[in-house]
Amino acid sequence: MDIASIRENAKKDIQNAKDAKAIDAVRIKYLGRKDGALTNVLKSLKDMSLEEKRKIGVEANALKLELEGLIEKKEKELSAKGGKRLDVTKPGKKVALGHLHPLTKIDKEIRDIFSSINFTIVDGPELEDEYHNFDALNIPADHPARDMWDTFWVKPTTDNGEKIKVSEKSGKLLMRTHTSPMQIRYMETHKPPFQIIVPGRTFRYEATDASHEINFYQVEGLMVGPDITLANFKFVIETFFKKFFGKELEFRYRPSYFPFVEPGVELDIKLPGGKWLEVMGAGMVHRNVFDAVKYDRREVQGFAFGMGLDRLAMIKYSIPDIRLFYSGDARFTEQF
Ligand code: FA5
Repeated sequence: MDIASIRENAKKDIQNAKDAKAIDAVRIKYLGRKDGALTNVLKSLKDMSLEEKRKIGVEANALKLELEGLIEKKEKELSAKGGKRLDVTKPGKKVALGHLHPLTKIDKEIRDIFSSINFTIVDGPELEDEYHNFDALNIPADHPARDMWDTFWVKPTTDNGEKIKVSEKSGKLLMRTHTSPMQIRYMETHKPPFQIIVPGRTFRYEATDASHEINFYQVEGLMVGPDITLANFKFVIETFFKKFFGKELEFRYRPSYFPFVEPGVELDIKLPGGKWLEVMGAGMVHRNVFDAVKYDRREVQGFAFGMGLDRLAMIKYSIPDIRLFYSGDARFTEQF
């Protein structure tokens, strides 16, 4: 091809190019290093006579510069026109954020509600001793009620095999089976009147099923003063549930037995399907418990309760199996 027709064709091609890909093809067609039409002319210069070289060489190089300029200009035009401009009306891209575990959310809600009715939030140890988990709660070693709480006992040795000293009064070490030991720890160090909740992790050596786990969460409640009664308990707990579920649910109080309360009750909530789910134990603090913390039982009385946080989460989110919370399955946790 002679220079004049290369110029003519290339200009047409450049003009007709509709997008970045097309302009790239034009560049390759004329200026490509291997087989570009103009490149071939430049390559052939070496076989030409001096005279031809002078004439065609100058023209070919001038055309090369010209075409490069035109291609660049066209590229700029195309990218200004093409969809690369920011379309501010487009919906934003969703950024994947981390989020809280459903049990963490429930825990936070419970804390917020009790704070709003003036309860203090208290934390306690998961590794407990026999005295606080059992003895001081009116469950001595030979008491059959100890069987109510299947226990993970802990060897009193460190990782290096050193013995951990525990006093005779403390007894053996264990993973707390309920949050009730914090009733004792709190009363040992505080004077009434007060009202507290203690959310925390608890452990039981038992078979798992849809409503039982070996580790789960409880929220202990304790209110002590000169004239606290079961009526106060009913009011507090029903106020809590109304705020927590945002609607009226059906409750059922059943008489029950726990060594550290007298009288004792259990509270069930009716599920949408009509089944009842036990969510807490409660009652009036037993006089032996007040004796253990050296409170004068003639001057104070109080109520205590212990509710299953997982069970409340199951009701609130209609979750059929407690084990889903601990499955680590993102398809489950991402739904909250
Ligand atoms: C207790 O643990 C008593 N400490 C509760 C209490 C406190 C009574 C203060 C009186 C005064 P219980 O073992 O029933 O009681 O457990 C209380 C709640 O924890 C149950 O109602 C249930 O909601 C939950 N719970 C018990 N075991 C499990 C388990 N394995 N998995 C999940 N939730 C459980």
